[in-house]
Amino acid sequence: MKKTNIVLIGFMGAGKSTVGRKLAGAFDMKFLDADALIEKKYKMKISAIFAEQGEEAFRKAETDLCRQLLKHENGFVLATGGGMPLRKENAELLKQIGKVVFLYTKPDEILRRVKNDTSRPLLSGPDREEKVNALFEERLPKYLEAADYVLETEGKSFYAMIVEIQKNCMK
Ligand code: S3P
Repeated sequence: MKKTNIVLIGFMGAGKSTVGRKLAGAFDMKFLDADALIEKKYKMKISAIFAEQGEEAFRKAETDLCRQLLKHENGFVLATGGGMPLRKENAELLKQIGKVVFLYTKPDEILRRVKNDTSRPLLSGPDREEKVNALFEERLPKYLEAADYVLETEGKSFYAMIVEIQKNCMK
């Protein structure tokens, strides 16, 4: 039987990579991380791509990657970058790639998790709390629209999240 791909979307710090790695491990699937694939292709860190080529170049790389992944052999879990499903074109491509699961994590929890992070260009500089709140509010409707399934992460163990994804998205 052909395995369904699982695509994890959500805000920075929602746990896409961690949950994705564990999910892939539990079901013998391949784990793909969109940011890592783009960094490998450009041989540059995301922050350097933003700084040297601009956000638009990064967003184009995300769309190129979505197109490429449509042709990838099935049976993988993809952790997207937080902005990947925001372009309509990408959201449509992601739905074709697999079951799209939105990891819904509230801004206060996100802020706690990204407190000491320096790798995310969109959160650099002062007023991090305002930035997270504003971006979250702007993005939430797009995440909900891009999703096939919404998984609330609050208070759930990784095991519980994996079981929930398996039950609802991998039948
Ligand atoms: C971004 C999220 C980051 C990374 C880039 C832009 C965003 O990925 O793709 O910094 O626009 O939300 P994570 O969600 O893994 O932090």
